[in-house]
Amino acid sequence: MDKFVVSGGATLDGEVPISGAKNAALPILAASLLSPEPLQLANLPDLRDVHTMLHLLRILGARVNGSAPGRTSVSLEDPESFSAPYELVRTMRASLLVLGPLLGRFGRADVSLPGGCAIGARPVDIHVNALRTMGAEVEIRGGYISARCCGLKGARIDLPLPTVTGTENILMAAVLAEGETVIENAAREPEVRDLADCLNAMGAKVSGAGGSRISVRGVKELHGASRAILPDRIEAGTYLVAGAMTGGRVVARFNGELALGEVVGALRNTGAKVRRGEGFVELDMRGRRPHSVNLVTAPWPGFPTDMQAQFTALNAIASEHALVRESVFEQRFMHVAELKRMGADIEPLGREVLIRGVRKLQAAPVMATDLRASASLVLAALVAEGETVIHRVYHVDRGYERIEEKLNDLGADIRRV
Ligand code: EPZ
Repeated sequence: MDKFVVSGGATLDGEVPISGAKNAALPILAASLLSPEPLQLANLPDLRDVHTMLHLLRILGARVNGSAPGRTSVSLEDPESFSAPYELVRTMRASLLVLGPLLGRFGRADVSLPGGCAIGARPVDIHVNALRTMGAEVEIRGGYISARCCGLKGARIDLPLPTVTGTENILMAAVLAEGETVIENAAREPEVRDLADCLNAMGAKVSGAGGSRISVRGVKELHGASRAILPDRIEAGTYLVAGAMTGGRVVARFNGELALGEVVGALRNTGAKVRRGEGFVELDMRGRRPHSVNLVTAPWPGFPTDMQAQFTALNAIASEHALVRESVFEQRFMHVAELKRMGADIEPLGREVLIRGVRKLQAAPVMATDLRASASLVLAALVAEGETVIHRVYHVDRGYERIEEKLNDLGADIRRV
């Protein structure tokens, strides 16, 4: 298994190209199952999770031409299977996203339960209950979600919480359903709106996406479309935090719309200058140590949980104390133990942590556990004294394209061994 060897102490300075967003690409790839005609995708990121999803689509019988990050087209004319197997789903929870489109178009789907992961139990009850409300027979049997229906019916669905992939699964189930579906308390993340835009480009009738009330009028069939994947707001945020932590200057460059939301305010609260323009965001921390930033994660438009670990690492070397509260997932602090091995002063207090900034972290052998925790260890290693070895970096490769190359281009010193 690959490891990273990071020599800390560099001040980052330069430009970094932002790739397509993992969390926009995965639902849109699943949406390709809804039409026999090709969905042409540009700016697909070259990520482990994207390759996993393309592999799953091939298992289902989809034809995939091209490969990430170039132009890729996916179409499913004749399904060869309706099952997302455990061996694959256990490596990527987002495989769950094929449930809605398979059920919506073909009336059947057998998707392995994803099981828990490092950041929490990750139940699927909201996905299942919504599909039952739309008329599907859904059984949980032998570790699989087995769903059957003779055509889904539009329904009103009140989500107990704004689940992102839950909203996306319901959207993709509803576009070919009979009648209207209304989703209340829908997730408002930019990637949800982007999926709705993609579905509408394929001939669906979705309105209100990006807000908490989405309505879908079912149509008979969808056709192909051509889309560019949104730039990755979490990747961009991660590199901007790296600039702030190292007292440097980082310009994130991207195509399309980059929705950073509350991350911009949080970065400015560290004392960094942040300037936005057409196709770029510049962070300038030249030579200063970041101020501590108190944070509470929340569903969009709140502070994104996917940026929590990165800001926890920043707070570890900031000048004061900070409280970081994780309100979305029940245990998204796996990075804390590893950061403490590097000398961070972090006190767990249930759903939050109290971080007392220290001047310097020390290099240490550490282990990645989940995608964003791994990113926070890379950030910590950039500022640690000495050479940090990070094990199990395959976690990082799931969501960051060529991270060591991009950071080395900014002046870091990272070797993959
Ligand atoms: C999506 O996961 C993202 N993944 C996650 O990104 C992100 O952290 C998360 O949304 C929150 O923003 C993709 O988009 C592929 P949720 P998702 O359903 O949809 C509970 C990353 O690092 N819940 O919004 O799985 C759940 O336990 C990944 O890129 C239920 O209780 O997250 C959690 O506490 C990590 N029952 C909360 O909702 C359900 O049926 C939010 O989860 C579904 C969810």
